[in-house]
Amino acid sequence: MPSLLGLFFDRFARLAPALLVPELRLWSAQDLTAFWEACQAATSNPTLELPYWAVVWPGGAGLARYLLDHPDMFEGKKVLDLAAGSGIVALAAARVGAISTANDIDPDALELCRLASQINGLQITDLPGDLLDRDPPSWFHVILAGDVFYEQRLAERCMRWMRMAARAGLSCLVADAGRRYRPQVGLTPLASYTVPTLPEVETTAAKEVTVYEIGR
Ligand SMILES: C[S@@+](CC[C@H](N)C(=O)[O-])C[C@H]1O[C@@H](n2cnc3c(N)ncnc32)[C@H](O)[C@@H]1O
Repeated sequence: MPSLLGLFFDRFARLAPALLVPELRLWSAQDLTAFWEACQAATSNPTLELPYWAVVWPGGAGLARYLLDHPDMFEGKKVLDLAAGSGIVALAAARVGAISTANDIDPDALELCRLASQINGLQITDLPGDLLDRDPPSWFHVILAGDVFYEQRLAERCMRWMRMAARAGLSCLVADAGRRYRPQVGLTPLASYTVPTLPEVETTAAKEVTVYEIGR
């Protein structure tokens, strides 16, 4: 599939302090629906999936806020942002002094993370591809995931994988905005945030986001 980043930067991208996390500047689509339609037209694919990386999701914003509010938990740690999207969690990790890696299956997401790290003067490494069918990499200390419970299969795979990582001794945190497929067991709440939302993305003006630790 062609990169959609050119289209994003030509007509839709806006760089601004992130909602709830003004310490970081992130690119977001000014009109996600219009951008999505433009992507479908550009690829001649009317069923093309939403370009998720084109906005910061409430779960990612809440998790990034948690990192910035608890820097001592992450400073000096090797941290993986699973399903990084626009990169807000990976950037927050780098900002508090973690050795930060962003993973996403979408190459456009990882390129946007790289550009966002440059504009914020932070360093992150990327780890492309789908990690969820392999053992979690043992060299990380912390695995983080923002807003991954919106699809059943992804929710189940992420949870299974992060549980494996937790059992291997890694610290695993996930932040959720009340998505349909959030698991009902195995999550210990650590903090909650009210996150302002974008009207075209959510049906309410704000979302309650909870940061959870995944048990072993
Ligand atoms: C709703 S977005 C969340 C992005 C970011 N964490 C945030 O909160 O703003 C979900 C992201 O998961 C990515 N994704 C979906 N399946 C994945 C997989 N198996 N492995 C890694 N990333 C995946 C998508 O490409 C997308 O960027």
